[in-house]
This record gives sequence, C-alpha cells and structure tokens, in this order.
Amino acid sequence: MTYWDERYRSTVPEERSWTEADPLESLALIDALGLEPSDALIDVGGGASQLVDALLARGFVDLTVLDLAASALDEARARLEDPTLASRVEWIVADVTSWSPVRTYRLWHDRAVFHFLTDAAAREDYVRVLLKATAVGSAVVLATFAPDGPETCSGLPVARHDAEGLATAIGPAFELTRAERVMHTTPWGSTQPFTWAVLERRTQRART
Ligand SMILES: C[S@@+](CC[C@H](N)C(=O)[O-])C[C@H]1O[C@@H](n2cnc3c(N)ncnc32)[C@H](O)[C@@H]1O
Repeated sequence: MTYWDERYRSTVPEERSWTEADPLESLALIDALGLEPSDALIDVGGGASQLVDALLARGFVDLTVLDLAASALDEARARLEDPTLASRVEWIVADVTSWSPVRTYRLWHDRAVFHFLTDAAAREDYVRVLLKATAVGSAVVLATFAPDGPETCSGLPVARHDAEGLATAIGPAFELTRAERVMHTTPWGSTQPFTWAVLERRTQRART
C-alpha cells in the first residue's frame, strides 16, 4: 500500500490539512475560462476532492480524476450519491510523473500535487506528461504552497513556488495568464498561503 493510500484509509476528510468544504478558488478560475460542458477536464492528484462533484453539478460530462491513491478515488466515487454520475467519471490510479495519457484535455487542474515534486527530474517528467495531455488552447490551473507557505504537506517535504516560478517550471509552451495568492484554512483553523496560476497553452512545441 502506498503512503497516500494509507493516509486516506486512516483518516477522515476533517483530519487532512488539504480538505476544502468547497473548492471555491478552483471553481472561480475554471468558471473564468469559459469552458464548454463537453470540454475534457482532468483533476490530477484529485484525491477525494469535492471538485469533481461541483464540476458534475455544473454539467461537465467529460471528467477524469487521476491519483496515486486508489483509496482516495474510492472515497470520492462513494461520495457521489448518484452512481450514474460516478460512472460518468474516468477514475485513473497512476503516478502523474510516469502516466501515459492517450488523449488531450482542455483543462488540467492540479491543486497541491506539483509541490511534492522536490527534484528537477520529477518536475521535468511531470511537464513531459502535461505536454502530452494538452494541446494548443488547453489551460492549466495549478496551485502549490507559496514561497512563505509550509515546508511540508502531509508530512512530506514540498517545493514552494511563486507564479513566475511555476510558469518557468511548466515551460514556454504555456503563457501565465492569471496569478493569485490565496490563504487556505485547514479543517482545524490554521492558514496556508497558496500560489494559484492559470497557464494557457500557446504553442505545440515544448521549447521555443
Ligand atoms: C495534498 S493532496 C491534494 C488532493 C486534492 N488535489 C485536493 O485538493 O483535495 C495531494 C494528492 O496528490 C496525490 N499524489 C501525490 N503524488 C502524486 C503523484 N506523483 N501522482 C498522482 N497523484 C499524486 C495524493 O495521493 C493526494 O491525493
């Protein structure tokens, strides 16, 4: 069993620092992109986040949630009251840095996953997968701990980023179109500064 599987199996949502009752910032940034309900969206490292519930409620019909932890995806699937809704979502158990996407997505969403990639090689692997999973016109909504955020998340070391650093890490195929700093309040009331970035793919080439 992986570290993350165990984390989800041994806790309830209120015991996880990253839990949000409502994924407000994700939804605000996604809404602003003006996507069509038929657009393909993927939540990378989505875990048991309620984002998928909210996107289904908005009428999106092509949703994928990918995570290392099967137990997290089981929890999200079980939470969706209507089993026909859960069956409309593609649930993928995979490590994003070694995943082989077979299609592209209009939106790639990642809240609090990229920051676990503390070495450059892993970040490069992530970007290689991101480039395969997106096309010109795709958007990325990316959230990591801010430079003054915690040094660890869920007991693991993290790399903290500002928006320009994220744009540099993701590379020149994407343009940074929006950046925000948002305080996340954990279920027990502490605060964590996050950097949120929206990046839009302008070119097919990875390097310009
Ligand atoms: C801090 S949690 C955030 C979960 C979710 N994005 C949210 O906002 O509630 C980090 C998530 O990333 C997943 N994860 C960590 N490393 C991963 C990797 N290399 N590939 C895929 N998922 C990963 C974990 O299983 C966990 O669900």
